[in-house]
Amino acid sequence: MHSVLNPWMIACRSRELRADAPYATTIEGRHLVLFRDGHGAPAALDDRCAHRNTPLSMGAVKNGGLHCAYHGWSYRADGSVSEVPALPAGAQCNHAVRRYHAIEQDGFVWVSLHADAPVVKPLAFPHLNEPGWTSFTMKTRFAASVDACLENFLDCPHATFVHRYLFRAPTARRVRAVVRTLSDGAEAEFFDEPRVKSLVWWLLAPRGGEMRHTDRFIAPRTSRVDYVFPAGSQYIITSSCTELAPRETQVYTVISFRHGRIGPLVRLFFEPLSRRIIRQDVEMLARQGENIARFGGARYADTPADLLGAHIRAWRSGVPPAAGAERAIEIRL
Ligand code: FES
Ligand SMILES: [Fe+2]
Repeated sequence: MHSVLNPWMIACRSRELRADAPYATTIEGRHLVLFRDGHGAPAALDDRCAHRNTPLSMGAVKNGGLHCAYHGWSYRADGSVSEVPALPAGAQCNHAVRRYHAIEQDGFVWVSLHADAPVVKPLAFPHLNEPGWTSFTMKTRFAASVDACLENFLDCPHATFVHRYLFRAPTARRVRAVVRTLSDGAEAEFFDEPRVKSLVWWLLAPRGGEMRHTDRFIAPRTSRVDYVFPAGSQYIITSSCTELAPRETQVYTVISFRHGRIGPLVRLFFEPLSRRIIRQDVEMLARQGENIARFGGARYADTPADLLGAHIRAWRSGVPPAAGAERAIEIRL
């Protein structure tokens, strides 16, 4: 993958990593244990004790150290061993396990699997915790590749079928779109989008006026969808994908919106509806993933109406398209 790409991946939500217990996860096939050091800062190590290879995640967190459950070796946040209980007090032990860079931001614990310390911060979620904005988070596991997830989140035409009447309904209206390649990904902007008869739009969209809608892929693992309405209400759906294994993806979605004074009220309906919609995608992508496995690999047929999938796959396979290209297209939604 491209070396300048942001290496940070979400490992878990902040609240899932308690002060007094380790948290086990697998990212890109690597088995990690997370814990909080004496200052509450997150640490990430290989989940395998250097001594006899038992999972460190079976152990306990005490005084900012991670203690193995088998013989009680104690590990610091940098992976070094601070104490071997069977040795006399003060005895040196130079063993260590591999450590990974970990940081906390926006209510998530992020890790980087690169050896070098990242020079960038994790990609921030827009308008999270900003006055006037309401946000909620969804954690969803997909039995699908990161590529397939990202394409799904940025693909309008599927919504008419998978989310019919919840999110989109057929209008057969022609919509103008412009697809642009960017230095950090690609975006599709839509013009003259018709107001659709669906539950989400009935609930959220102010009547009248032109909506602005942009779907954006931010390499290598983020999708962002923006809806801006003339009266000032605005919705941003950002999803950060963490690859657990080649066809297992953990998706962290932050939905931030501004809807006059009734934002918190809107959330009461919007949140369960969003969960319902994402479950429909989970179902479809699971079937897609199974079938790709059944046929021994993916083979995609693209038309010009597949706006961002090819960009996502190009970036993620290490050959990003040059920035600055633009193409206009009419699609039917
Ligand atoms: S296996 Fe961890 S201390 Fe022995
Ligand atoms: Fe969807």
